[in-house]
Amino acid sequence: MYEFAPDPQAPKGEVYHDLCQAAQALVADEPDRVANMANVAALIWQFVPDLNWAGFYRVVDGGLILGPFIGKPACIRIPFGQGVCGTAAASGTTQLVPDVHAFPGHIACDGASRSELVVPVLRDGRVLAVIDLDSPSLARFDAQDAAGIEALAAALSSAI
Ligand code: SME
Repeated sequence: MYEFAPDPQAPKGEVYHDLCQAAQALVADEPDRVANMANVAALIWQFVPDLNWAGFYRVVDGGLILGPFIGKPACIRIPFGQGVCGTAAASGTTQLVPDVHAFPGHIACDGASRSELVVPVLRDGRVLAVIDLDSPSLARFDAQDAAGIEALAAALSSAI
């Protein structure tokens, strides 16, 4: 059994630090990338408040395919360059979207989503996957959330 106890009162930077430590501990001795993505999706859900979807899209044959996640069933395949996830994958850069309705080409998987943060997971400059967080609140994510999930993505680089 794994017991992680996020402190809802802790400053955001501390929460992401603890999330990263927990993720590193969970993936350290496990080579199976699906198991690692599944556990990290569960950790994000546990540590990051006010989400309605959290998980992974994997790069497969030049496109994105749905990976382990928590939330409602989502679109399975996203071409590079389409939607927030495809934009993050094609550019290799974080996409911080305060209002998904204002993002051209946003792909609505859950009608409750109002803001979104997508961070690519890179290895040797190649995009392996993206981490996607959706929130029902407008402008839920800020630069600190982006930095926290980027640190998590860097920690996962050799584990997924
Ligand atoms: N909104 C994403 C699609 C994935 S779902 O949010 C889970 C996008 O525009 O790429």
